[in-house]
Amino acid sequence: MSEDKAAETTALGSNEDATRGYYDSSDVDAFYDAVWGGEDIHTGVYAHDAEPVADASRRTVERLADRLADHLRPGRSVLDLGSGYGGTARYLAERFGCRVVALNLSAAQNERHRAANAKRGLDGLIEVVTGSFHEVPYAADHFDAVCSLEALCHSDDRARALSEAVRVLKPGGGLAFTDIMADESASAEALHPVVSRLGVAALATPSFYLRLLTDLGLTSVDFDDHSAHIARHYVRLNEDTRAREAELRTTISPAYVDTLLANLPLWVDATRAGRLRWGIFSARHTVD
Ligand SMILES: C[S@@+](CC[C@H](N)C(=O)[O-])C[C@H]1O[C@@H](n2cnc3c(N)ncnc32)[C@H](O)[C@@H]1O
Repeated sequence: MSEDKAAETTALGSNEDATRGYYDSSDVDAFYDAVWGGEDIHTGVYAHDAEPVADASRRTVERLADRLADHLRPGRSVLDLGSGYGGTARYLAERFGCRVVALNLSAAQNERHRAANAKRGLDGLIEVVTGSFHEVPYAADHFDAVCSLEALCHSDDRARALSEAVRVLKPGGGLAFTDIMADESASAEALHPVVSRLGVAALATPSFYLRLLTDLGLTSVDFDDHSAHIARHYVRLNEDTRAREAELRTTISPAYVDTLLANLPLWVDATRAGRLRWGIFSARHTVD
């Protein structure tokens, strides 16, 4: 292996270690469980400002699934990159009757994910695999669709993750993903205090993804810009966390609750100032 390649692999390894450590921590797990309810962990599409986080987050899954509806049915398969507690995997399996492979770094989340699938009788359709989207453990042209919800923001090499997604997609297959991004005008310095929680140097921008998807040879590339919802989302998270502070302190370490109470307002400010963007990308693999 060349020195450059070895350095790249080491950097990615420490990026993944940081993410794994974050999601495997009992504090983070307890926070996500309390605020989202153990299904989804991503930005919601809000019907109104006071809508519960869990309901709005479920709407995001529905919207993303609509983008893949032409590709999924019984006998077809979809890969979910960075699958969290498996809310998306269960929704896709139930709605389309398709097979789902849920790939995720966090062994702690994967354990909960498998238990929830078994409880819902979906373990026959969903396979939960521990691994990284930087090196997807499947052969080329394997899946009818690939999706990812708010996981690429943790990556220090998003081009590699998306080229892996395209590699395992069958010709004609569909790709859909959401991500938290920086506005093109936001400086890395302005976003640093906000983004440091994610363990990455910087976020992608919408134009980065649009260019990358085209460069990867995909067609029908589209971005449904839902940036207004990320501001609503962080207002809701901040309000919920403050309203439930006493209860959260019984399941989460006081130090982590303090970190949340300090960090969430930074996200509210950044989203209100338009420094963060969010939405749903979709594209189709070209038919050879
Ligand atoms: C914000 S959570 C979203 C979880 C899920 N997609 C959802 O929407 O509910 C981000 C997820 O990405 C996963 N993740 C981050 N980096 C990853 C990587 N390199 N490979 C696989 N999963 C990764 C984390 O373990 C976590 O489950």
